[in-house]
Amino acid sequence: MGKKVYLQTFGCQMNVYDSERLKGVLASENLSITANPADADVIVLNTCSVREKAERRALGRLSEFHKYKQKNPEVMLVVAGCMAQRMGTDLVEKMPYLDLVLGPDQIFQLPAYIQNHRDHCLVAVCASREDFDCERIWEQRIVPERKTPFTSFVAISRGCDNFCSYCVVPYVRGPERHRPIDQIISEVQLLAQSGCKEVTLIGQNVNSYRFESKDFADLLQMVNDQTDIQWIRFMTSHPKDLSDKLIDKIAALPKVCEHIHLPLQSGSDLVLEKMNRGYTSGDYLGLVERIKKTIDCVSLSTDIIVGFPSETEADFEKTLEVMRKVEFDSAFMFRYSIREGTKAASFVDDVPEKEKLRRLYTVIKLQKDISGTKNRELVGKTFQILVDERSKRDENKWKGKTRTNKTVIVEGNNNLLGEIVTVKIDEADSFTLFGSQTRKPEKVKTA
Ligand code: 5AD
Ligand code: SF4
Repeated sequence: MGKKVYLQTFGCQMNVYDSERLKGVLASENLSITANPADADVIVLNTCSVREKAERRALGRLSEFHKYKQKNPEVMLVVAGCMAQRMGTDLVEKMPYLDLVLGPDQIFQLPAYIQNHRDHCLVAVCASREDFDCERIWEQRIVPERKTPFTSFVAISRGCDNFCSYCVVPYVRGPERHRPIDQIISEVQLLAQSGCKEVTLIGQNVNSYRFESKDFADLLQMVNDQTDIQWIRFMTSHPKDLSDKLIDKIAALPKVCEHIHLPLQSGSDLVLEKMNRGYTSGDYLGLVERIKKTIDCVSLSTDIIVGFPSETEADFEKTLEVMRKVEFDSAFMFRYSIREGTKAASFVDDVPEKEKLRRLYTVIKLQKDISGTKNRELVGKTFQILVDERSKRDENKWKGKTRTNKTVIVEGNNNLLGEIVTVKIDEADSFTLFGSQTRKPEKVKTA
């Protein structure tokens, strides 16, 4: 019988996507997945490096998993992904009991390493940015194993060339490489044929996608026209690369959902400059105005970092001001943490931890109020949702998302999984809408 693999994933959508595809690759090599680490022959952690907290969690899990290896030395312990790439041999020095360290572009070589298990730890990571290579990863025609069959991520690019000063991604995921358009289309079509209703096209900066003469707006058009997928989402958008052509396409293409994740990071021009973001708060607000004017009922989400080196109270106030002006539907909010090797690591991390936390709680509170107000405005309105989960507590309750990426709970006696249903919103809080099924869609883009 093939070996059993336990796989735990940390971090962003790209890691989730890599892990899902890895599961497909493992299955094709007669390796099975187990949900119980105590049961596994191979324990794999697909790790994230973007913030210190994510790394600390993975390191904590690793020392927990060490106990399985102490009980049974045959168990193979593998660290994969961004932390593996960032720390490489340092990880082995810290944890000499590891068997394998695999960078994000080496992760699919796992089955080969499992077959040839050695008695010393192997470190397979990229030595330099020139070393990153994902041609083989793109080419695989494997429908990824997913949490739900009705939605899927599809990678359109890997890596990043933006070098925002706080960010480790360009170092651990390598240069930006764009996936050939025909591979994207065929993966989306394969997913659609297997019953998937919605794809999210993912990349660190989807707006800078280019393949031959095609840009991201052209890609959206092709996925819209040439596949049977019903809804198309995409993330992450970088404000400096979001063109008017793209805004027009999002507005016009019937399958493309009306939601843009557009990280602001800071509302202060001084901080944005030090972050190397390539736009001012004025540019950002102008862009938001164009988006809102062009795309009907659009929703916007964002990422915010507080406590970046040298961020003063006045800088922080500017972030609050932009948040109030834009009225984001939701936000991911973080306090700055130093990432070794980045440009910002050489800046003095001068905002005290306590102050970073105060600013973080302030933005969280503001966003909660804004989200609550915006969501309550939706009560009485009607939306389509794609149902992708059954409630664990009540089997007559279902969870889905609107095209604008809002979570809706709806009641239903029959199985709604995978259905696109029309719901009228009855109640709302800052995070969730509660609705009931109806037949009358208020406003739905039609083909
Ligand atoms: N500290 C805090 N937040 C960070 N992010 C990236 N790097 C850091 C860091 N060093 C946040 C940004 C990014 C999101 C994925 O993580 O907001 O958009
Ligand atoms: Fe990091 Fe900036 Fe690239 Fe996003 S765009 S991955 S924040 S460097």
